[in-house]
Amino acid sequence: MNEFFKHIKEGLSKSPKKLSSRYFYDTKGDALFQQIMQLEEYYLPRCELKIIESSSKQLASDVSKTHKKLQVVELGAGDGTKTKHLLKQFMPFFVTLDYVALDISANVLDTNKKEIESEMNDIQYSSIAGNYFETYKNLFPTSNGRLVLFLGANIGNYPTPETIEFFKFVKNNLKENDCFLVAFDLVKHPRKILAAYDDSEGVTKQFNLNLLERMNRELEANFDISSFDHFPFYNPLTGITSSQIISLKKQTVRFKDDFSVHFNAFEAIHTEVSKKFFWSDIEEIAIQSKMKIIQTYFDNNKEYAFVLFQPNL
Ligand code: AVJ
Repeated sequence: MNEFFKHIKEGLSKSPKKLSSRYFYDTKGDALFQQIMQLEEYYLPRCELKIIESSSKQLASDVSKTHKKLQVVELGAGDGTKTKHLLKQFMPFFVTLDYVALDISANVLDTNKKEIESEMNDIQYSSIAGNYFETYKNLFPTSNGRLVLFLGANIGNYPTPETIEFFKFVKNNLKENDCFLVAFDLVKHPRKILAAYDDSEGVTKQFNLNLLERMNRELEANFDISSFDHFPFYNPLTGITSSQIISLKKQTVRFKDDFSVHFNAFEAIHTEVSKKFFWSDIEEIAIQSKMKIIQTYFDNNKEYAFVLFQPNL
C-alpha cells in the first residue's frame, strides 16, 4: 500500500485526527506555497532574504576559518533562488566550493540546478532527489569541510522532541569543525504571527485544504472541500502555531478500498505545527543535541535568526 495512504489511515483514525504537513507539497501545494511566500502577511521569506543579503559574507568568513575547501549540503533545497545569493558571496572565501542540493522533488531540483549554475561557473554542482532522511544519511563522504544548510524556518515544522532527534541525525554526518546552519523564526507579536498563517486572501486556507483535494486526487476520496474550513491559532505561551482543518458538519468521507472516516460537526484535524523560537529554546536544542552555537546572524528587528552550530565533540 502506498505510504501516503498508510499515513492518512493512521492519522485519521487517531483522536484527535491528525495529518502530516509533509503531504502539503504536491504540485498544487508547491504552487500555493510559492503564492504564500509572496503574501505581505507572510513575513518569513523577506526576513530570510535580508539576513542572506547582510550576513552571507560574514558567514563565509566564519566558516572559512576552519575550512578552505567546502561542501555545502542543503536539506530541502527548493528552487535555489535564495541559496544562489548566499553561495555567490561564498565563492571568494574558498579554494573549492561544492554544492549538494537535496530535495524531495526532482522537479524543483531542475530549477535549482539552472538557478545555481547560471550564475556560478566555478561551483561543483550536484543534486539528489528523495526524502532527505535517506539521501543525507547516504551522502558520499568528503575530505572537505561540510556546511549543512536548513533554511526557510522549516525547523519549525518539527514538534520539539523531534527537533532534537533531527539535530542528532544531522550531527551524525558531521565531523569536528563541520557546520550546521539553521534558520529559526523567532517569537514576535502574536498577532503578526497569527496573520502569517491566516492571510486575508485565503491562500493559506487553500494550501491547507489542498491536503483534502490531494486525497481526492490520489486516494479516490470524496471530500466536499466547501464543507471544511481552515482554522489556525498561535499560543504565545509555547511559541507554537497550530493549523487545523474543521469539518463544518457531521459527515462521512469515503476513500478507495472501502476505507471511510466519520467527522462530527466542528471536529478538527490537526495539520501543522509552525514553532516560533525563544532564544532559550535554541540554547536548549544545542545542549540536548550536544552541539555548540558558534555564531548568530539576525535581521534588523531580530525577528528571525540564522544560527551556526558545530558538533560538540
Ligand atoms: C515551509 C514550514 C516554513 O511553517 O511557515 C506556510 C509552511 N504553512 N504557511 C511555515 C507554511 C503555512 C512554512 N514552512
